[in-house]
Amino acid sequence: MKRTVIRGTGRYIPERLVTNQDLTQWMDTSDEWIKQRTGIEQRYWVKEEGGVGASDLGLEASKIALDRAGWKPEDLDLIIFATLSPDIFFPGSGCLLQHKLGLETTPALDIRQQCTGFIYGMATADAYIRSNMAKRILFVGSEVHSTGIDISTRGRDVAVLFGDGAGAVCLEGIDTDEDIGILTTVLHSQGKLADGLMLELPASRLNPRISVDIMNEARQFPKMNGQIIFKHAVRRLPEVTKETLEKANLSIDDIDLIIPHQANLRINQAFQNTMNLPDEKIFNNIQRYGNTTAGSIPIALDEVIEMNLVNKKNYTILFVAFGAGLTWGGVVYRFA
Ligand SMILES: CC(C)(COP(=O)(O)OP(=O)(O)OC[C@H]1O[C@@H](n2cnc3c(N)ncnc32)[C@H](O)[C@@H]1OP(=O)(O)O)[C@@H](O)C(=O)NCCC(=O)NCCS
Repeated sequence: MKRTVIRGTGRYIPERLVTNQDLTQWMDTSDEWIKQRTGIEQRYWVKEEGGVGASDLGLEASKIALDRAGWKPEDLDLIIFATLSPDIFFPGSGCLLQHKLGLETTPALDIRQQCTGFIYGMATADAYIRSNMAKRILFVGSEVHSTGIDISTRGRDVAVLFGDGAGAVCLEGIDTDEDIGILTTVLHSQGKLADGLMLELPASRLNPRISVDIMNEARQFPKMNGQIIFKHAVRRLPEVTKETLEKANLSIDDIDLIIPHQANLRINQAFQNTMNLPDEKIFNNIQRYGNTTAGSIPIALDEVIEMNLVNKKNYTILFVAFGAGLTWGGVVYRFA
């Protein structure tokens, strides 16, 4: 049977370290408030003067993943690019990355599923591979949040959460009798709650799409109802974990590690408590990176592989995510 396996991963984090203390020069906040509410200690942002987009971070992560897979860009049949912070409004960052990789006509598509971008990306890649539409796929999750957030006190509830960064994964379709690779995927969305976390502009429903008046109202910055997002996240993550395991016909004991999206350490701790998981079964790195949205799970996966945590045959990881949309989902992946 056809299965989707990981051949290489990579991550790229920009160099500009921004600690919680650094944020206090622009907004009324504190290291204590941020750590206590979110677990975040620091994040990395692209250089202040701009000029670096999601595809640039994605390119660096992709080069590492391709190198580890032993692939050239020409080997790719498809690029899937997940981001909520595309370089430009259109065309998608996948097309821009395709060109930066030196490719001529390789197809590329963007996924706009925010923090659930990795899960939707894996489901899409798996569908392409299982239906023989592609054999070698590059998935990239990349975000440049720092140029789009309000770093004044007005925007502090959102601004302290987000970091820039990219992760990339090379995926290949193989024929095997072993129960390995992407075992199952589960996807959900709930547009009814879209305004719980959204960035409105530029908006096709507005004419003009952007104006000085609108900008004076700060509508070019993301808006979030933190408590709604928190409430739904701590409900949906355990729920989708159960659903994903049931679909894969597995129990939580069959899972070696859970890599959840990194939105807030408190959300992941609540999830851990609800699921009664020991510390060693759940991976968190939000303390160092903040929420890198579509980048968070592939960055974490790359770290997990680099740390040699994948240390036995049939090591099985459950990925779960929840985010704006609302969107949420799960993926079970088993290493050979
Ligand atoms: C954002 C979040 C940390 C806020 O925590 P909270 O306990 O709900 O805090 P509240 O929004 O009730 O705000 C409490 C107070 O802190 C203030 N505050 C907000 N951001 C602050 C900051 N960065 N620093 C200091 N104070 C801040 C508020 O203004 C409010 O002040 P008030 O009581 O005088 O009105 C929390 O709601 C959260 O993490 N939600 C989920 C967000 C998320 O994960 N988003 C990404 C989804 S993928």
